[in-house]
Amino acid sequence: MNVMTKTSKKLYTIFFIVILMITAVIIIDISFESSFEPVKTAYEKEDFSPSIPTESGVFRRDEFALEYDNIIEDDNIYRTLETYYSNRAYPGAPPYIPHQVLEKQGIGGNACLQCHENGGFVAKFNAYAPVTPHPELISCKQCHVENTTKTTFQLSNWFKISPPPLHQKALVSSPPVIPHSLQLRENCLACHAGPAAPREIKVSHPTRVNCRQCHVPAVEKVKTEIPDLSSPDTSQQFFRKLK
Ligand code: HEC
Ligand code: HEC
Ligand code: HEC
Ligand code: HEC
Repeated sequence: MNVMTKTSKKLYTIFFIVILMITAVIIIDISFESSFEPVKTAYEKEDFSPSIPTESGVFRRDEFALEYDNIIEDDNIYRTLETYYSNRAYPGAPPYIPHQVLEKQGIGGNACLQCHENGGFVAKFNAYAPVTPHPELISCKQCHVENTTKTTFQLSNWFKISPPPLHQKALVSSPPVIPHSLQLRENCLACHAGPAAPREIKVSHPTRVNCRQCHVPAVEKVKTEIPDLSSPDTSQQFFRKLK
């Protein structure tokens, strides 16, 4: 009997000490955790610190980034930089409207945005509609016009400046610099991703949505080839061409 109470007393003490230890561990753990902050990801938008206003445009189509990543390339219908440039008076100029426009009198808005806001295949034109980087500029025809004549304009000495070169990077695997200005080009995914993006500039990593974290604008002025018309040689070549 005496032995029994002795062992059970011992057991009680051990039990009591174990309980104390567990409580101590729990209390220490809680006080530790209370000083931790939860990890925030870029996708938890409401918790994300506001982006710098001049760089906020890069996030404008980021909800489509995963879709762009999983897109199956169309090997028959795609654009190249050659066709891209051929539709512009100079690199960066507003492209002509290369197709028929139904609403002749309209200024733009939904008549254009139904195809150009998010792109997609248009069977009628057998092409993917390029996504506009500026859906908020709703008077489209203020800047984009149809090419309605081939005869009104005479040949002139207008020279297209050449586009900036690609692949300007410090090391083989460094991110290339952004060779163009960022005015009207804040929304990178509009031009660099999706089925209508010219092949040469289609981004391999559309899900890294904070483009300007790695790509910086080129600081050096890019040399463009503008012919020296004051030199008699070049101007003679011109006039020979015109004749
Ligand atoms: C039915 C769909 C549709 C509508 C509506 C439409 N477009 Fe287009 N647009 C296209 C497609 C498709 C292309 C690509 C044509 C190609 O690559 O041959 C295109 C090309 C363009 C381009 C040339 C883009 C480039 O990078 O060269 C411009 C500019 C343009 N459209 C402006 C307009 C404007 C302005 C309107 C409204 C007046 C309009 N579009 C209405 C489908 C449409
Ligand atoms: C204030 C002038 C202006 C207005 C208004 C305007 N655009 Fe543009 N747009 C431009 C310029 C400039 C470019 C060429 C951008 C560049 O190459 O940097 C362009 C480029 C485009 C492109 C080609 C994108 C690409 O892949 O290069 C499309 C498509 C387009 N615009 C559609 C539209 C539509 C649709 C509207 C109306 C909702 C519209 N634009 C309103 C000036 C304008
Ligand atoms: C209006 C369409 C358009 C938009 C918007 C645009 N780009 Fe571009 N980007 C181009 C074109 C076209 C080129 C090819 C060079 C040229 O003509 O300027 C290019 C070239 C580049 C290159 C060089 C690629 C290489 O292989 O060397 C980088 C990098 C780049 N852009 C990054 C960006 C980033 C980052 C943004 C967003 C801040 C952006 N671009 C927005 C049209 C666009
Ligand atoms: C984490 C850094 C990082 C971010 C963010 C990033 N890039 Fe890149 N990008 C690179 C690197 C590195 C290369 C060079 C890849 C190579 O040469 O193998 C590159 C290459 C490119 C090219 C040349 C073609 C290609 O895909 O190789 C383009 C165009 C481009 N990036 C555009 C973009 C755009 C648009 C975004 C935003 C959607 C973006 N990048 C976000 C690091 C980045």
